[in-house]
Amino acid sequence: MVAGDDNGFRVTVDQLESARTERTKALMFVSPSNPTGAVYPPAEIEAIGRWALEHEIMVITDEIYEHLTYGVEHRSILALVPELADNCIILNGVAKTYSMTGWRVGWMIAPADVAKAAISLQSHMTSNVNNVAQMAALTAVSGDLSAVEVMKATFDERRKLIHAALNEIDGVTCLEPEGAFYAYPNMTGLLDRPLAGSQASTTVELADLVLEKANVAFVPGEAFGTPGYGRFSFAMDTDDMVEGVRRIRDLVEAG
Ligand SMILES: Cc1ncc(COP(=O)(O)O)c(C=O)c1O
Repeated sequence: MVAGDDNGFRVTVDQLESARTERTKALMFVSPSNPTGAVYPPAEIEAIGRWALEHEIMVITDEIYEHLTYGVEHRSILALVPELADNCIILNGVAKTYSMTGWRVGWMIAPADVAKAAISLQSHMTSNVNNVAQMAALTAVSGDLSAVEVMKATFDERRKLIHAALNEIDGVTCLEPEGAFYAYPNMTGLLDRPLAGSQASTTVELADLVLEKANVAFVPGEAFGTPGYGRFSFAMDTDDMVEGVRRIRDLVEAG
């Protein structure tokens, strides 16, 4: 479940409870979030953890963006609700913190029976992570986070730039992302109106149109179950990012 931007994209316990049925087995919890950049505050995380505990729902918490937060802090649901230990799986990896996307190294911290089943599955699917990538990942996680701090400062600058630039486009409204490296603006104001001699009635069509007319790619919200939004990554060159958003604005202003 992905919430709308009315609550900063954060799902409430009430929303979770209304979606729960007797067949609900697990909750996938992603904070900081891809695609929204939302970061849940500790009190909300704890409330969700207590709800899961009460209803014996397994929590799968993907903490891959744990170190990429801006002005707020990541907290693990298991640290806030330790009683979840027997029913909680923590996922993480080197792709984001150490900018090692493509190395294909991640890890899972899970109850022994879950870990055993995952090992059996993986050993038949991929055997293991190649040794070179394992050694590189070991070096990454054994070091300090000083390089991450440098990278984070640049992300923070880009985050502010893209947030401001997207909001300058007539018809686009964007919340300030607090984590990860995505802005997730509401783009419904660009639908069903003239754009470069054409028009789009969904964000999927809009993404096609913007790609074709401005050579700029964004992921339409439909891919995440939330039509009307677009995901813009700022894990890219700053000048290219500014230029990309400028091209969308030019397209909109030309009508
Ligand atoms: C929330 C989340 N989890 C996990 C991953 C996986 O990263 P990788 O497969 O590169 O290790 C991603 C990558 O986009 C992500 O956004």
